[in-house]
Amino acid sequence: MEDWYHDAVFYELYIRAYQDSNGDGQGDFRGAIARLDHIKSLGVNCIWIMPHYASPLLDGGYDISDYRDVHPDFGTLADFKAFLDAAHARGLRVITDMVMNHTSDQHPWFQAARQDKNSPYRDYYVWSDTGTEYAETRIIFLDVEKSNWTYDEVAGQYFWHRFYSSQPDLNYDNPKVHEEMFDIMRFWLDMGIDGFRVDAIPYLYEREGTNCENLPETHDFLQKMRRMVDSEYPGTLLIAEANQWPEDLLPYFGTPENPEFQVCFHFPIMPRLYQALRAQDKTPIVEIWAQTPAIPSGTQWMTFLRNHDELTLEMVTPEVRQWMWEQYAPEPRMRLNLGIRRRLAPLLDFNGEKWFLLHALFLSLPGTPIVYYGDEIGMADNIWLPDRHGCRTPMQWDASKNAGFSDANETYLPVNDDYHQRNVAVQEDDPNSYLNRLRFLLQTRQSQPALRRGDFEFVETGNGAVLAFRRFVSDQLAVSGEQLAMSDGHSVRGQWVLCVFNLSDVVQQVGLAVAGGYQDLLHPDSLPLVGDMLNVPPHAAWWLVKT
Ligand code: NOJ
Repeated sequence: MEDWYHDAVFYELYIRAYQDSNGDGQGDFRGAIARLDHIKSLGVNCIWIMPHYASPLLDGGYDISDYRDVHPDFGTLADFKAFLDAAHARGLRVITDMVMNHTSDQHPWFQAARQDKNSPYRDYYVWSDTGTEYAETRIIFLDVEKSNWTYDEVAGQYFWHRFYSSQPDLNYDNPKVHEEMFDIMRFWLDMGIDGFRVDAIPYLYEREGTNCENLPETHDFLQKMRRMVDSEYPGTLLIAEANQWPEDLLPYFGTPENPEFQVCFHFPIMPRLYQALRAQDKTPIVEIWAQTPAIPSGTQWMTFLRNHDELTLEMVTPEVRQWMWEQYAPEPRMRLNLGIRRRLAPLLDFNGEKWFLLHALFLSLPGTPIVYYGDEIGMADNIWLPDRHGCRTPMQWDASKNAGFSDANETYLPVNDDYHQRNVAVQEDDPNSYLNRLRFLLQTRQSQPALRRGDFEFVETGNGAVLAFRRFVSDQLAVSGEQLAMSDGHSVRGQWVLCVFNLSDVVQQVGLAVAGGYQDLLHPDSLPLVGDMLNVPPHAAWWLVKT
């Protein structure tokens, strides 16, 4: 089934953080194999592995020094293959991270390029004698970098970089770079992976007089990449990491004639979910969906609450950003660049009702959801660690040494000190734990074709604090989507779920006619709702179906 990603839930896995199998304090593929049953038990279908390549790890592995090898701390190519096979054997697909905008400065291409002006690799990167070009380009890591140009003494020129100065950008005006990237993709696809999350794609080209983002040349290249993948590895999933406004995201899906990505992360919706919850007002969510264009048939958004980066506030206004910082990052060390470097559960003050509401909301919006490792147990962060490390600490499995992550005396980052209370083992036995509630939510979502693939429309509640929308399987969708037929042969035509969320901390009255009685899938033991005016309890989340 080529469009399996419509029905999937993803899990973001940081190999380094997951399980150490050889006592060196670093997670590795052999360790992760032993934890695949945990991932499977969540009810997810696909794993995205953060960069696992050889790297000096100055940017969490997004600084690659050899694209065709596994970082020695994480294992070998054979270990990677064993992980892939073990995941596939459990019915879990695997995609990897494809970092194509830049390499590490330790990559042999850059080393050759900087040492010799006449090296064929010189033109793999972007150079300048003055470092004054493309002045309209924003700086992304602005807490650390002062310019997108850095002077290299060895080369005697400036080189261009959109991220750390240890990550020189590749030159996509050089067709050889295209071929190198395609060969790297072939290498991993030949091993059997199911696709890529493609990193930082808005920034591939530079052109004077522009902000060097989303350029037409970039889209031409991405269409070429998709053509290669479709002809040589049909069915490969490509996910776009483009932190952009909805109207700038749309072109990354391409067109039916010239497709680019099947899936794009919906960055702008994410901070608005937190904003709406804290403001007790649905407006930010309603407004961003009004700005979100229809996407080509067969494509899909990817939705998320957190990931391995700071919670980005790039896609909100400066006023909202300031407000979000005040609300969610009162201490300066909680802030990074234009975002908030905290994990999900602490952002919500470990409030279980808000956690449940936010998940029920995110899991019922259109899009393929992705869960970040550790968030399934409400892991805390460590704001005393630099950069984004505080959200990348070792997974907490049990109350034994180093949370069961490693038996080394020193781990790559310190284990959070709450691990005795907060770990997988403790939560397994508690039906009300984050872990078991997430499993329940995923299972319930996956049982409803309308939540996975249905159309979406807001339902007026006459109350700014109560968000309601309907997900429904239109006749057209039911007829075209074979996979929408239930396994027992029942038709799903006409199926819908009415999702209702009270974003506030007081009871709200709403005018929603539920004549005939509705059952809440999220509270299966509760009595059916009947009537015209409903009282919605504080922070209630309902997924209603007709009884
Ligand atoms: C986006 C990744 O998510 C982030 O972690 C990384 O630092 C940049 N791209 C640069 O590769």
